Amino acid sequence: MFKQNDKYNVNISIIDEGHSKFIDIVNKAIVAKQHNNNAEKVKDVLNEMTMYALSHFSTEEAYMIESDYPESQHHKEEHHLFTIRTIAYLNRVINGDYQISGEILEYLQQWLVHHIQGTDKEYIDCFCKNSLD
Ligand SMILES: [Fe+2]
Repeated sequence: MFKQNDKYNVNISIIDEGHSKFIDIVNKAIVAKQHNNNAEKVKDVLNEMTMYALSHFSTEEAYMIESDYPESQHHKEEHHLFTIRTIAYLNRVINGDYQISGEILEYLQQWLVHHIQGTDKEYIDCFCKNSLD
């Protein structure tokens, strides 16, 4: 299981709450995998990913607009790819393929390292300079 950790924080409370929610989703994906792709658990992970994309990405993107963040285009493209990937997983489930929790887990772990610990860290200075914390 993944533990909540300061290394996922950007020190902006509403964004950190989102990232902490994301750790919960990673842990749910681990449980779904441990339960051999149990349909309800896989659907639950995908619902949470959908909610996460809808709410957390729009929070970050609103901050980017407010602070004139110069890397917003690239950042939004990464968010878009996450959304597209989530939709692709939902389509597989709709078509009866639930054998995907391993893949989902791998993707979420990559997202944690490359996006949350990478791309998201890059806006901290800009957001803080614009007193959005
Ligand atoms: Fe982000």
